[in-house]
Amino acid sequence: MEYVDEIRSLGNQLSFRGNIEVPSEVDKIVIAGMGGSGIAGMIFKDCYTKKPVTLVNSYNIPDFVDSSTLFVAISYSGNTEETLEATRKARKRGARIRAITTGGKLAEIVENAVIIPDGYQPRSAVGFLTVPLLRGFGLVDDSEIEITKKLLSGYDVSVDPYRKFADEMYSKQKIPVIFGTPGFGSVAYRWKTQFNENAKVLAYATSFPELNHNDTMALEGTYRKEEFYFFVLTHPLLEKEISNRIKITSDLCKIEITRVEGEGATQFSNLFTLIHKGDYISYYLAEKRGVDPRNVEIIEKLKRGLKGSV
Ligand code: F6R
Repeated sequence: MEYVDEIRSLGNQLSFRGNIEVPSEVDKIVIAGMGGSGIAGMIFKDCYTKKPVTLVNSYNIPDFVDSSTLFVAISYSGNTEETLEATRKARKRGARIRAITTGGKLAEIVENAVIIPDGYQPRSAVGFLTVPLLRGFGLVDDSEIEITKKLLSGYDVSVDPYRKFADEMYSKQKIPVIFGTPGFGSVAYRWKTQFNENAKVLAYATSFPELNHNDTMALEGTYRKEEFYFFVLTHPLLEKEISNRIKITSDLCKIEITRVEGEGATQFSNLFTLIHKGDYISYYLAEKRGVDPRNVEIIEKLKRGLKGSV
């Protein structure tokens, strides 16, 4: 599959039917996952507020993990050592364990793991990785998925209006800085990681309103301000207060902030349309730079190095 087809497949991924089984007796949720798999937990945390959710992206788990904890391990390959180690520790504490993976060791150590299709780069499988979590908690239904799929099917590489952002970033060698908004911080971070892995550029993500209490000073006063390309990810559900903050920040700090807007009437459709736009922009930037967006050789080498076989 061409890499762009992996990106294009996002809408179809949303139709994946599997879901994790959620026991009603748990009182907190811990989700472990790294990189492209970890994003699924971040998206979930943006959508779910009924019980405490803690994300784990290292080898260790919080002290509070116990038999009333639902522990969800997410790893596309099923072989990521931090996620495996955290899962083993959660098992020792008696947590209720679930997993979303294509297989690997994770599928061996977690019974009834949700098995998703393989053959993708983990970061391209964001739909497969996230939907079983959202479905398990009843956070998305078929009609929302159908509406979102329709919105996503409107994109096409040949006519995409977002190519111009990549052209501008490339021609002026700018570093992307992405501002999220409440309930959408995961997408800002997703954009950052897609710029990192697809286009091989450093990028930075932060969110309103928190950024107004720290970054704002640097947005006004940093050196080489002209070397950054500022995006803000907005959506039709955006609170008026946040909209005001965006305008005031841009005026006070004298920076131009490019707005990219999500689509549809729900958080789900806006999250996934914004993810899709960022995926394409990072893909176009990779094309412009002449780098292979699929290639993550250094990450793979590092993983082999950790196992003592570079
Ligand atoms: C590769 C990618 C990486 C991986 C990460 C964890 O496309 O996006 O960020 O997702 O190295 O590996 P998995 O997802 O297999 O647990």
